[in-house]
Amino acid sequence: MSTPVKKVPIHLQSAQNRLLIRYGKIVNEDGTTDDDIYIEDGVIKHIGKNLIIPGGTRVIDARGKYVMPGGIDPHTHFEFQFMGTCTADNYYQGTKAAVAGGTTFVVNFAIPDVGQSVLDAYYDARQRADPKVCCDYSLHMGVTSWSNKVEKDMEILTAEHGINSFKMFMTYSLMLNDEEIYSVFEKCKKLGALPMVHCENGLIIKKNAEKLLAQGITGPEGHELSRPEEVEAEAVNRACVIANQVDTPLYIVHVMSKSAGLALDAARKKSSKKVFGETLAAGVACDGSHCSHECFDHAAGYILSPPLRPDTTTPKTLMNFLAQDILQTTGSDHCTFTKSQKEMGKDDFRKIPNGVNGVEERMSVIWEKGVHSGIIDPNRFVAITSTNAAKIFNLYPRKGCIAVGSDADIVIWNPNATKVISAKTHNIAIELNVFEGMECHGVPEYVIVNGRVIVDDGHLKAVEGHGRYIETPVYAPYVYDVANADKIKPIRVEHIEDEISTQKKHFYVENTNMFPTPTLPESAVSTPGCKGARPEGQRNIQDSTFSISEELDLERKSCIRVKNPPGGKSSGFW
Ligand code: URP
Ligand code: ZN
Ligand code: ZN
Repeated sequence: MSTPVKKVPIHLQSAQNRLLIRYGKIVNEDGTTDDDIYIEDGVIKHIGKNLIIPGGTRVIDARGKYVMPGGIDPHTHFEFQFMGTCTADNYYQGTKAAVAGGTTFVVNFAIPDVGQSVLDAYYDARQRADPKVCCDYSLHMGVTSWSNKVEKDMEILTAEHGINSFKMFMTYSLMLNDEEIYSVFEKCKKLGALPMVHCENGLIIKKNAEKLLAQGITGPEGHELSRPEEVEAEAVNRACVIANQVDTPLYIVHVMSKSAGLALDAARKKSSKKVFGETLAAGVACDGSHCSHECFDHAAGYILSPPLRPDTTTPKTLMNFLAQDILQTTGSDHCTFTKSQKEMGKDDFRKIPNGVNGVEERMSVIWEKGVHSGIIDPNRFVAITSTNAAKIFNLYPRKGCIAVGSDADIVIWNPNATKVISAKTHNIAIELNVFEGMECHGVPEYVIVNGRVIVDDGHLKAVEGHGRYIETPVYAPYVYDVANADKIKPIRVEHIEDEISTQKKHFYVENTNMFPTPTLPESAVSTPGCKGARPEGQRNIQDSTFSISEELDLERKSCIRVKNPPGGKSSGFW
């Protein structure tokens, strides 16, 4: 058994230690303010106007830009041994690409290899990741068998190693049966951890695939045919039923179809929102038509599970589910394989390694399909790309918000700049990009990781090993205290005068109600122009004449200060 590598702390140059972001529009999930941000030693020290700052501080002018919490990608697979091969992007390439796209934190899956214990999978992941990561990260552990040893390992991982989430599969050779899933859910509940499930009915898929191959369907088009929507929706429903019997919270990874989203919505209503759902960047931007492309390499490049759906309205519906709070988070499920790795399934679609890219593109893709297309506003964008994941995995308010005391993980976003996604310019190790040719309005111009400017006016200067492993404590309040979260009042905002010194800036009123809970709409079914969930007192894009150009009016208006910031009062909240 190996132990994690010890890291030597990086001492930054003094000029890099201190940073002022001026004239930007700060966007949190619960409000937007015109304020400056002063950062020292990787942490947000002050937020306000006319801040008095030490000499030698670097200043970034964010006029006309949104200043948002860096993205949190809750679903990546770097250095994953899967389907007889290993994913193409390692922890360095993967986190470098993440930062290039505006993501400053990833949660990677550590899934035990054949014959490996869960605890050893954790040590192995730390050993690989710690020296390479360019941004902070944490881990979800995979549970692929059930025994006393697994149970003990789960206890050690939660008590000693900062793990608070465990993923199970209902398909692949890694799958557990319902009884085993029930037992893992019970254990998670006892530990205050969050069970996560990949929902597809593996036994039905196996039978369907055998039938298709017998009919001579061997190409990538057979993949979706063997695992259609109802096979996903049935498993979502079953996982939710088991969670309800155990009375545990549950997180459903990569919801990829309308039927699965509706099954989740029904379960959320029944369980007082103790079930959380994630979809993918690929899910909101691509459909299944690619998988029947005549070129094998093209079609195989789009194979993942659950699959992209042939129903071409699915991507927009998934985006609407995110707007309606039927889904809460967006991941990339970044799990890349080269052309030659995908060709392992040339004669049998069952052998095509499953997975697509997305860690670099997720933020721009969600902005394009969500904000630019008018379905959500920038606050909801922050919620579904960062804050909700931070809350669910108990990283909040250290991560997932811009508040005094939070880590300085920040993206300065130019909504007026555009970028065309292409494999020719991406930062990852594969030949194909599933978003090839997509024009995105919205570009991360500066990305600040732990207070250090890593994307600097569009130029990427990734630092291998700059990131840290972040422990995630059990009993996340957002997950385990949902009943109380429902009673929380929306955050109040009020106009206040500009301030002239840092002394006056700590104006926050103490607030224990950190999680404003949006209300679900009447209808679960997506309709174009549906309303994104907004806490009371805040604008919804469909209710208003919201426009990005107005929103970024360069004349600075009177300040709207969030009196009860997401992080509670400004001092010592952890
Ligand atoms: O096809 C996928 N999603 N590959 C990654 C493994 C998983 O199921 O998350
Ligand atoms: Zn999965
Ligand atoms: Zn995955």
